[in-house]
Amino acid sequence: RVAYVNGQYVPHGHATVHIEDRGYQFADGVYEVWSVFDGGMADFDGHMTRLHRSLTELRIDIPMSREALTQVLKETIRRNRVKNGIVYLQVTRGTARRDHPFPPPGTPPSVVVTSRSISPLKTDAIAEKGVAVVTTPDIRWGRCDIKTVGLLPNILAKQIAKDRGAYEAWMVDDMGLVTEGSSTNAWIIDEHGKLRTRDTQANILKGCTRTTLLDILKEEGIELEERAFTVEEAKRAKEAFFTAAGAFVMPAVSIDGVKIGNGKPGPVATRLRELYIERGH
Ligand code: PDD
Repeated sequence: RVAYVNGQYVPHGHATVHIEDRGYQFADGVYEVWSVFDGGMADFDGHMTRLHRSLTELRIDIPMSREALTQVLKETIRRNRVKNGIVYLQVTRGTARRDHPFPPPGTPPSVVVTSRSISPLKTDAIAEKGVAVVTTPDIRWGRCDIKTVGLLPNILAKQIAKDRGAYEAWMVDDMGLVTEGSSTNAWIIDEHGKLRTRDTQANILKGCTRTTLLDILKEEGIELEERAFTVEEAKRAKEAFFTAAGAFVMPAVSIDGVKIGNGKPGPVATRLRELYIERGH
């Protein structure tokens, strides 16, 4: 395997950044993850646009042109012979003596790209059975719209899920409303049959998979209510699922041990997964 690190392709096992990289010291950086479908990147423009936005919001310099970055992503996928899987891109504010304010102007951002294969058969098998979700308080900051590498609350939430034998943790705000998953957007079909997901003005990440699903819903004539739901509503839901690069559309069959629907992936989630994967190809 190879990784791209600041202008070079290096063997994955020897790929390093400096100990004074601001990503390492301050989590001062952003990232994106694309699904790789048959060698191509899904939702390419959406992720690129969001990367640009994250960098701009944090006043990190744009490291290279969009065309150059596209080339690096493609080349990393090619060199790792990834047909299906993910490609990961991280941009930090660069390397400088540890000091809280931004480093001197002109300090180049650090860019790292990795890519690995994920068996679509494996992901499909998981989706066919559906997965367990647990809930946990959302302890994050007020800028969850920015895709930063500062993911401590997210990894703590995911570990709670793992410890409880679940696949994903849905985070819950002070009002008892589900914000999003630790690395996914959360959706339900509520007890009245309404498809619902939290609106993206409400301190969550605007998922690219979510955005594409919005297009699919329009085409299919499926109504969506962008309105947050409580944990209780989720537990009474007919269906539940979550979306993200890598997971696509993943049915949830229990929440905190409470069975959703008949405990099997619901028809809408299953259909939306198929439609999303079709489009990705
Ligand atoms: N996570 N919400 C959070 C907090 C996320 O970290 C992610 C993505 C999403 C879904 O976004 P998208 O559909 O654009 O992948 C929602 C990536 C996959 C990760 O952290 O690995």
